[in-house]
Amino acid sequence: MAAIRSIAESARERAAGSNSNLNANASASANANANANAISIRDCSLTFGSVRVLNQVSIDIRDGEFLSILGPSGCGKSTLLRLILGLLSPDQGGGIVHHVPREEIGIVFQKPVLMPWHTAIQNIELPLSIGPQRAKQSKAERREKAEWSLELVGLTDFRHHFPQQLSGGMQQRIAIARALAANPSVLLMDEPFGALDEFTREKLNIELLRLWDNPGTGLNTVVMVTHSIQESVLMSDRIVMMSPRPAGVNDIVNVPLSHPREAEMQESPEFLGTVREIRKSVKAL
Ligand SMILES: Nc1ncnc2c1ncn2[C@@H]1O[C@H](COP(=O)(O)OP(=O)(O)OP(=O)(O)O)[C@@H](O)[C@H]1O
Ligand SMILES: [Mg+2]
Repeated sequence: MAAIRSIAESARERAAGSNSNLNANASASANANANANAISIRDCSLTFGSVRVLNQVSIDIRDGEFLSILGPSGCGKSTLLRLILGLLSPDQGGGIVHHVPREEIGIVFQKPVLMPWHTAIQNIELPLSIGPQRAKQSKAERREKAEWSLELVGLTDFRHHFPQQLSGGMQQRIAIARALAANPSVLLMDEPFGALDEFTREKLNIELLRLWDNPGTGLNTVVMVTHSIQESVLMSDRIVMMSPRPAGVNDIVNVPLSHPREAEMQESPEFLGTVREIRKSVKAL
């Protein structure tokens, strides 16, 4: 965990001088380039059979931001991530504009989806060893990259453990390390901590923020689907609130908290006020 701690310290130092105002503008992270978008979703609609899932969704995902997507179960959040990743295409509307190369977009699923017959390090290496990725690095370079990712998530000592020998939180860390090993500049996360207990979830929330703060990862923009209002406020610069299916963008909320985020901020009036505001909007849906 030493690497994670030093990341946390460096992030705190970096932010200490520059980011003390609690307003929406000040909440933009050190990663953000306010003038650029990483991905633009333009008026996209999508229907599965007779079920209209997404209805005229438009979102500009800003370069360098941490964006959360909140919405009722079944409204189309996972579908939206698949659209962003290019696994699905809209059947109506302007489409998705990727301002970053597609190969720079990584994904972490709700379940870690690890190969049970592979060790932690082998699971991280796997995507680097198949398809077009394979030619990019030698075997030794792939192993080095996997070791680097494992260290980022604090699991170096567990490199030879199989998934069934790891806790749920550790498995999810491996899944995050696997995504980071490919050096994504944009990371899509589909309820990555949804299956974890509250204590582990909060710990991983903060660890993820430190990885995002760490310039060494190259990670610039995060889009995270979550069911948790608290998690979305703690983590994000902005929160997209989706309406029930057919899902459209109901509202986009700016989070008035500074960076780096700390678990203790959950007791601040700004945090509690934003949670209250979102709860009210959710009730009105
Ligand atoms: N490949 C598919 N074929 C047909 N229908 C689908 C397909 N994928 C998703 N759907 C439907 O689209 C709707 C939205 O699904 P999606 O998984 O995107 O919801 P969600 O918001 O992620 O839900 P949850 O919060 O429960 O994960 C659901 O009604 C689902 O049945
Ligand atoms: Mg989903």
